[in-house]
Amino acid sequence: MFTQKELPYQFSALEPIIDSKTMEIHFTKHHTTYITKLNDALSTHAELQEKAVEELLTDIKSLPEDIRTAIQNHGGGHANHTLFWEIMTPEKETLPSADLVAAINSKFESIEAFKEKFSNAALTKFGSGWAWLVVKPSGELDVYSTANQDSPLMQGDKPILGLDVWEHAYYLNYQNKRADYISAWWKLVNWNKVSELFTQP
Ligand SMILES: [Fe+2]
Repeated sequence: MFTQKELPYQFSALEPIIDSKTMEIHFTKHHTTYITKLNDALSTHAELQEKAVEELLTDIKSLPEDIRTAIQNHGGGHANHTLFWEIMTPEKETLPSADLVAAINSKFESIEAFKEKFSNAALTKFGSGWAWLVVKPSGELDVYSTANQDSPLMQGDKPILGLDVWEHAYYLNYQNKRADYISAWWKLVNWNKVSELFTQP
């Protein structure tokens, strides 16, 4: 059964950019519910219970039809949030590795241009979803958004940075001002972790 990893910092650690109450509800209610529902879906499929959530999402098309949508939504919700907590930090001014900077420059021309593209993907996602920086199977980077809890893993890409733009992620503090949330959020990015994910096979 899937369980929730401990948050690597206090609920209040990302204040004032993400307030303590939002973090608490997001972690203990939203993320927890995805895990409960993922486990519920798998309860009738013992043969899938040993698989990692990443594996389930990568093989989504081959999953039994009766649980495919539940794994897409709740497995995606679990994987996406697990990554989200890890790629944020209260530590100030972490930096991307030289290799990651080179890959970003090669694909997007500059860090600033990459950030603009990513922010725009986050801002223009209609309704609920995520913005992503992914590594494609070719090794190339890409930026795009997905709807709902759809994971880049479902299309064979590896997410290394993700921004939750569901209203539950920012509404208490920012209300309808998603753009303000996005521009403030960059200060929380844990570039050490993103660089590590980029390097991992
Ligand atoms: Fe969320």
